[in-house]
Amino acid sequence: MTAKTALITGITGQDGSYLAELLLEKGYRVHGIVRRASTFNTERIEHLYRDPHDPEARLFLHYGDLTDGTRMTGLLEQVQPDEVYHLAAQSHVRVSFDEPEFTGDTTGLGTTRLLEGIRRTGLPCRFYQASSSEMFGAAPPPQDEATPFHPRSPYGAAKVYAYWVTRNYREAYGIHAVNGILFNHESPRRGPTFVTRKVAVAAARIKAGLQDVVHLGNLDARRDWGYAAEYVEAMWLMLQQDRPDDYVIATGASHSVREFVDQCFAHVGLDWRDHVRFDERYLRPTEVDHLIGDASKAESQLGWRATVRAPELARLMVDAELNVLRNGLAPGDQAAPTAVPAPAAR
Ligand code: NAP
Ligand code: GDD
Repeated sequence: MTAKTALITGITGQDGSYLAELLLEKGYRVHGIVRRASTFNTERIEHLYRDPHDPEARLFLHYGDLTDGTRMTGLLEQVQPDEVYHLAAQSHVRVSFDEPEFTGDTTGLGTTRLLEGIRRTGLPCRFYQASSSEMFGAAPPPQDEATPFHPRSPYGAAKVYAYWVTRNYREAYGIHAVNGILFNHESPRRGPTFVTRKVAVAAARIKAGLQDVVHLGNLDARRDWGYAAEYVEAMWLMLQQDRPDDYVIATGASHSVREFVDQCFAHVGLDWRDHVRFDERYLRPTEVDHLIGDASKAESQLGWRATVRAPELARLMVDAELNVLRNGLAPGDQAAPTAVPAPAAR
């Protein structure tokens, strides 16, 4: 059987890197879209990279930006993917209050540009939309596929738009398009300004004597935190179903930010109260107070179930940061660009 070809937007992000690993393991040819930056932004996938002149190479990178619909359509035509995993977005909720228009353009309209590219080219590919529990916002927990959306941020509102445009292209044009409504998922590859990674880095550095305090915002919010490496398996499973549908992916348990902080600091024998300071700059104008996902549909129809819960996640993330420190790198260097040159230079 010929190997399948996948196109991943956001391949340089946390989820994109785990998904690329998974698909390469499954024998796919993987094409990823990378946005041009003045510094390397491919650090999370450099371990997967092989010179494209190598006949064994199955990972290929292309420059592209979600704001450029012509380029998205051109890449779809060029790559001819069997499956498109649309993960790229301005994904930071707090930042979306500062950059609401840009967030709408990338996180919302970016999805339309890709779907329209699929429609216009007539490609028979399947499409995965990275929808989010942030869409539920103020809706009380537990949340499942039938819970009405009440977004509480420009990011959440953009994701609601993208969710519905995905469903619309499925209904209007018969495109095999699915929404994965993923609750928060974390890992040592998480961006350093999301709360779990920020706290894991701080706990390790404070233990090592490299800093004394970390400044945080709202400690009362509760999240359903799972492990990113497991969640990308669910994305793949969704696109293997005969019928396109939408699925919640979550652990089914929630913890407060305070509890997660406590778990990280306790793991290195510290009391978080001695090291955490409040800074209002990390508050949001409107907050999502409580998320707990009910993923029973995914369990019954996809056979997917989360195994890593927040306490284990806290330990594995802090251990990863301690490991980075022991190897003589500062935590920020964990993602230091090294071997992967920019796509055009290859
Ligand atoms: P992430 O680490 O922030 O990665 C986002 C990716 O999108 C990066 O590769 C980024 O490129 C790329 N990107 C951003 N703006 C772009 C643009 N204008 N054009 C092209 N690429 C652009 O996010 P993640 O945690 O992997 O999440 C993946 C997706 O799932 C996102 O859509 C996110 O909103 C959604 N989601 C995440 C979670 C979660 O808990 N992680 C939960 C639900 C949904 P750079 O590397 O150059 O920045
Ligand atoms: N980032 C951050 N930084 N959050 C903080 C801080 C801080 O210093 N202090 C407290 N928090 C609180 C936030 O107010 C929020 O309630 C919670 O920690 C989690 O914040 P983030 O880690 O930034 O994640 P998020 O829940 O806002 O958004 C993530 O999950 C969504 C799914 O529900 C992102 O990955 C989104 O892209 C994703 O869709």
